[in-house]
Amino acid sequence: MRGQRVTAPPRARALRWIPLALTALLGIAASATGAFLFYDGEGERLHLALDYRAEWRAKDLETKLRAIGTPVGGFATFLAMQLADGLNPDGASFARWAQIRSDYADNKPRTYYWWPYLSTQDSAASASIASHPDPGFQTPLHYAPGGDKGEASELTLEADAQAATREVLIRAWFSGAVRMSRPYRTWGWPDSDATEIMFAAPIYRSGRMPTTIADRQASLAGVVAAGFSLHDVLEAAIRDTPRISEAIYISEEPWPADDTRQYFARYDPDKNDFIMEIGSLRPSDLAGVVIAKRVEGQGVNFYMLSQFLPAEVAAGRSPGPWLFLFSGLLLTTAAVGYVHLSLMRREALTTAVSISDARLRQTHRELEAVIRSSPAAIVCVDNARVVTVWNMAAERLFGLSALEAVGRRYQPPASGNGVQPPELGRAIAEGLMIDGTASLVTADGRKRDVSVRSAILTGDESEMLGAVYVASDVTDMVMLEEQLRQAQKMEAIGQLTGGVAHDFNNLLAVVIGNLDLIGTAFNPDSRNAKLLDGALRAALRGADLTRALLAFARRQPLQPAPVNINQLIEGVCTLLEHSLGETVAVVRELQADLWPVSIDAVQLESALTNLAINARDAMPSGGRLLIQTRNTHLDSDYALHEPGLVAGDYVVIEVTDNGHGMPPEVLAHAAEPFFTTKGEGKGTGLGLAMVYGFVKQSAGHMKIYSELGRGTTVRLYLPRLGGRIRDAGVATLLPSTAAAPKTVLVVEDNADLRRLVVGQIQGLGYKVIEAVDGDQALEIASGPGTIDLVFSDVVMSGGLSGFDLVRELRQRRPKLKLLLTSGFPGAMSVPEREIEPGFIVPILTKPYRRDELARQLREILEEAD
Ligand SMILES: Nc1ncnc2c1ncn2[C@@H]1O[C@H](COP(=O)(O)OP(=O)(O)OP(=O)(O)O)[C@@H](O)[C@H]1O
Ligand SMILES: [Mg+2]
Repeated sequence: MRGQRVTAPPRARALRWIPLALTALLGIAASATGAFLFYDGEGERLHLALDYRAEWRAKDLETKLRAIGTPVGGFATFLAMQLADGLNPDGASFARWAQIRSDYADNKPRTYYWWPYLSTQDSAASASIASHPDPGFQTPLHYAPGGDKGEASELTLEADAQAATREVLIRAWFSGAVRMSRPYRTWGWPDSDATEIMFAAPIYRSGRMPTTIADRQASLAGVVAAGFSLHDVLEAAIRDTPRISEAIYISEEPWPADDTRQYFARYDPDKNDFIMEIGSLRPSDLAGVVIAKRVEGQGVNFYMLSQFLPAEVAAGRSPGPWLFLFSGLLLTTAAVGYVHLSLMRREALTTAVSISDARLRQTHRELEAVIRSSPAAIVCVDNARVVTVWNMAAERLFGLSALEAVGRRYQPPASGNGVQPPELGRAIAEGLMIDGTASLVTADGRKRDVSVRSAILTGDESEMLGAVYVASDVTDMVMLEEQLRQAQKMEAIGQLTGGVAHDFNNLLAVVIGNLDLIGTAFNPDSRNAKLLDGALRAALRGADLTRALLAFARRQPLQPAPVNINQLIEGVCTLLEHSLGETVAVVRELQADLWPVSIDAVQLESALTNLAINARDAMPSGGRLLIQTRNTHLDSDYALHEPGLVAGDYVVIEVTDNGHGMPPEVLAHAAEPFFTTKGEGKGTGLGLAMVYGFVKQSAGHMKIYSELGRGTTVRLYLPRLGGRIRDAGVATLLPSTAAAPKTVLVVEDNADLRRLVVGQIQGLGYKVIEAVDGDQALEIASGPGTIDLVFSDVVMSGGLSGFDLVRELRQRRPKLKLLLTSGFPGAMSVPEREIEPGFIVPILTKPYRRDELARQLREILEEAD
C-alpha cells in the first residue's frame, strides 16, 4: 500500500461541474434580476421626477393665471368704491386705467370691458355709454332681459355672442370674485391669437360684496372684464421659467372623448412657442411618457399634458443597472473561481484522507496479522477489564478460545497449591500491571511459568483506556534452566569434593599403612592394640567416605567390562532378599535379551544396593521393591531436554518402591552429597551422590521420579555396548532389506487408528494385513498366508481381548511373533502378560512414537525363534 497514490474517483471529478454550473447560473440570475430591479426602480424614480416637473409647471401656470386676474379684481374694487361714493365711472377713467394696465403689466389685455348693469328702462344711461367718444375703447353695453318670467334677479347678461364670455360674467357675478373663462375664439384677429380667455370681476352697488347669491344678483352694479390672448398668456407663463424641453398640451379635458374637438395649446419645444389648435387629443398620438396635471384657473380647470419623449426619458437614466449587471457578472466569475478552488481543495483533502485511511486500514491489517501470528500470547483489556484482544497464542497458553474470552471479564481458575504469585490470570482479571516472570493456571488447571510484559493503553489525552499483556510460556525453559543449574551445581560440587577427597584418600592411605605397620608391634590383646584398632577402623571409615566422595566426583577408578545386567541384578536381588527383611518384597521384571553393557560390575552392585537401602528406608512398614530392566532408545528430542545426555541406545534399570516418596524440595537436592533427611548418624547423604557420580562416569544418566506418598523410581540409563548411535535415524530401525519383507497382521478395532498404524508399518517396509477384531485375526491366521508378527490392541470392544487372541494364536502357531499395545500398561502385571510359562508378551505403551514401534517390531522379528 505504501507509496501508492490514491486519486479521487472519476465520479467525483465529473460531479465537480455541477456546483460550478449552479454557482454560475445563480450568479447570472441574481445579477440579471438585480439589474432589472435597479432599472425598474430607476424608472419609477425617473417617473417621479418627471411627475414633479409636470406638477411644478402646472402650479406655475396656475399661479401666473391667478396673477393675470388679480389687477382685474383690483380695478373692479376701484370702480365699486367710486360707485359707492356716488361717482359714475365713465369711459375715460376706464380707458386711463386700461392704459396704465397696459404700460405696467406683463400681460397686456387685448380688450377691456366695463359693463355697468343697467335696467332696460335706463336707456339714457345706455345711450351715454354707447355714445362714448373715446376711440379704441369699447363699451359694448348689452342688456338682456333676464329670464322668461321677467324678474330682475334672473336676468342674463348679453355681453357677447360667445357662450364662454357670457358664462364667465355670470360666474363672476354670482361668485363675487374674479373668474376666468374657458378659451374661446374671437373673430377678426390674426389666427394665432384668435384664442382668448377672459377674466371678469363683479361690482356691487353696496360697495361691499353681498354674502348670499340672491343679494349678489340683486345688487350687481356692473362687471369689469379683460380678454387676453391665450397664446400670450401661455407665452408669458413660460417666459421666465427655464428652458422647457418637453412638449406641453393645454386643454380643457386631458383626453376628451373620441373626436370631441376642443381648443388646445401645444407648446413646441423646438420652436419654443405655443401653437394654438382646435381638434382632439388621443393618447395614441403621443409617444413617450405623458403626465396629465390639473391646472386650476379661477373657476375653470385646465389640464396640462407634459410629454417626455423616449429619448429624453432614456437620457435621464443612470448607467447603474448596467454597472450592477457588470459587477454581478464579475462577482459571479469570482464566485465560480472560488467554488472551483474550494472544490479542488476539498477533493485534495478527500484524497489525502482516503490515502491515510487506506494506510490506516493497511496498518490495522498488518497489526492484526502480527497479533494473530505472534508466538507470544497477547491479551488486551479495557478499563472495565473486559477482554478486547485474545490472540491464537493466548488461546493456546490459557487453554481458552477467543470466542469464550473476548467481550467478557477474564475469570481466572482457582489456583491450587504451589502456585506462586504473581499469577497472570489474576493480574488480567484485576487490571494489575505485571512484568517479569509469573505463574499461570490454565483453564484445565495446569500450572505454567510465563514471562510477561504489560503496558497501559492510553488515549489521545493520555487517559487510560486499558492494558495490554504479552506473555510467553517459559515453563520448559525454566525447567531446563533449573536442570542445567542443578547439573552445573553438581559438577562444581564434584570438582571441589573430588580434589579434597583425592588428597584425603592419599593421606588416609598413609595413615592406614602406618597404623597397619604399628599394629604388628603390639600384642593383639593389649590395650594399645585395641586403641590402634579403633584408629584403624576410623581411618578405614574415612577411606569409605572419601571413596564415596570420589565416586560422586566421578574420580573413582572404574573397571568397566561387558556385563550381563540381568544376571548381575539376579545376584544383587538374592542378597537383598536376605538383607532387606521380610516386610519388603523384591520383585524383578527383567527384559530378556537385554543388550550388553560395559560397566564396573562392583560399583553397579553397590549402586543398586544403595538404591535398595534408600527404598527400604522409605518403606519403614514394608512394601514392594521392583527392579526392572529394558532396552530403550533415547532420541535426540529427549536428549535435548536432559543436559549432558547423548541420544542413542541404552539399557534402563529401574528401581521402584512404593514408599513415602519425596517432596519436590527434597527431590531437588537428593543427589547432592551430604544431603540427607535421615537423622544424625543415620545417613551420610552420599548414597545417591555416589550413584549419580558413578552413572555419569560410566557415560550414563540417572533420573529420579518421586511422588509424595506414592513412591519413588530411580532410573539408571547405561549405554549399550557398541550401540551408541549419535543420531539415530529411522533408517537404522527399518527391517533389513536383504531379506524378503515380513508380514504383520494388525488387529485394531478403531478404524482411524488402524489406518494410521497400517500406514506407519507399511512405511517401515513391512507387508500389512488388517483385522478389525480378534475373531477376524484368528480366521486370517488359520489361513494359508504367511504371517510373521501379530500386532494387536489389548482392549477391543466385544469379542476377544488382545491377551485372549495371543493365547489362541500361540496354540495354533507357537512360533508366531507377538506384540501387544495398550494405553494402560501399568494395570497389566507380569503374571497377566505371562500367557504361558516363560513367555511374557511384550507390550508397547500407547501413545508410542514411530521410532519405538519400528524398534520393537525389528527387535521381535530378529529374535531367534
Ligand atoms: N527411595 C527413596 N524414597 C524416599 N526418599 C529417598 C529415597 N532415596 C533417597 N531419598 C531421600 O534422599 C536423601 C538422600 O539420599 P542418599 O541416599 O543420598 O542419602 P541417605 O540415604 O540419606 O544417606 P546414606 O545413603 O548415605 O545412608 C535421603 O535422605 C532421603 O530423604
Ligand atoms: Mg542412601
